[in-house]
Amino acid sequence: MHGIVSRLLDLSRLESGKAKVEFVESDFGQVIQESVQDLKGIAEQNQTTLSTKGFQNQTVCCDPLMLRQLVTNLASNAIRFSNSDVAICWDKKSIDDQEVIELRVKDDGPGISQEDQKRLFNKFVQIKRKGDAAYKGTGLGLVICKEIMKLHHGDIFIESKEGQGATFVCRFPQLHEDNLTQEQ
Ligand SMILES: Nc1ncnc2c1ncn2[C@@H]1O[C@H](COP(=O)(O)OP(=O)(O)OP(=O)(O)O)[C@@H](O)[C@H]1O
Ligand SMILES: [Mg+2]
Repeated sequence: MHGIVSRLLDLSRLESGKAKVEFVESDFGQVIQESVQDLKGIAEQNQTTLSTKGFQNQTVCCDPLMLRQLVTNLASNAIRFSNSDVAICWDKKSIDDQEVIELRVKDDGPGISQEDQKRLFNKFVQIKRKGDAAYKGTGLGLVICKEIMKLHHGDIFIESKEGQGATFVCRFPQLHEDNLTQEQ
């Protein structure tokens, strides 16, 4: 769990545009594998199997530290809510004629109702469910993910039905270093 103060500081830096975004050609698969490595311990504690699947040895223009934070936030939620399995996959896709990298973090937990899906990317929102263990998070992890995706000119959304697990989908447009430097 992250302290609320550091979470709020991260968020205000992201929202104010003061966060220093370091777009570099990064080995996308490797950054994800490294983030997952950090989560092996909590997955084991929760008796969750954490699997990964995606292209390797290919660079993508992104901020690797932000990508790492995104994966950590989404996967730690997924592990917390899963019954037994969390799957992280990434692939290249063409969506509306645009080439994107799609990252999916999928769990087999309680899922999220349509109504809650609309609220979850707002600050401090935590869903109260019967039988949830007392978890003292901040309700800011997903807001931070949304800001990280905005800075990458991408998108984040949820695919879920109540009782049937949840998948968080992040789409990164294919960026290039040379046309980003001018914007920064
Ligand atoms: N995979 C998931 N399945 C079901 N509910 C989820 C899932 N991920 C997030 N949620 C719900 O969304 C809420 C907000 O998540 P968020 O990551 O923003 O905050 P948090 O996890 O409560 O706190 P923190 O991220 O600071 O530890 C969670 O409290 C939970 O109710
Ligand atoms: Mg969280």
